[in-house]
Amino acid sequence: MQLTPQQYNEVVEPPVEVAARCAELLPHPGVLDLAELEALAGAIAADRSLWEPLVVVDPHRRRYRLMYEDGRIDVWVLSWMPGQGTGYHDHDLSNVGLACAVGEVVERQMLLPTGASSVTMTPGVTRNGPPGYIHSVAHVDGAPAVTIHAYSPPLVRVGQYRVDDAGILRRSVEHGRQELLDSSIAAIDPDRA
Ligand SMILES: [Fe+2]
Repeated sequence: MQLTPQQYNEVVEPPVEVAARCAELLPHPGVLDLAELEALAGAIAADRSLWEPLVVVDPHRRRYRLMYEDGRIDVWVLSWMPGQGTGYHDHDLSNVGLACAVGEVVERQMLLPTGASSVTMTPGVTRNGPPGYIHSVAHVDGAPAVTIHAYSPPLVRVGQYRVDDAGILRRSVEHGRQELLDSSIAAIDPDRA
């Protein structure tokens, strides 16, 4: 199936009520650290009434909807259907906390010289990552699987990784709100897919 990426300029404002309820969960007015982001994502994932209105079922595209944003954080709900995955990427300067709300996804973190970690995320499982770590997330089960992602500072840029024709790992900079597709490493090294 041909997957078409969602474009960064398709992001819409979060519903006012959703944003207000997310704001109530923020622990303080500063930049959030890894533990705070992971806890926030987990708290939102545990409250179905908060994220369910933003779930989008689309077999062609991994849909993401903005739940909350301000100058130091943005929070997203992602809807994953079969075949949808990010490929390897980093979050540039942002810390991230993520949580599974429904269904199942797999998170992999690239390990050198070969391989990758693999963590199955089901409801109740939360993860975090610092600026610059390289990971991927992909759908495993659920129609859709739903995950919550919180970034601080806000996700302005991401680095997407692919292997070029000479076998060299390349990082391309993308808009932080551009949907990422797995068009890179999986075909060359399935162990890291
Ligand atoms: Fe990510």
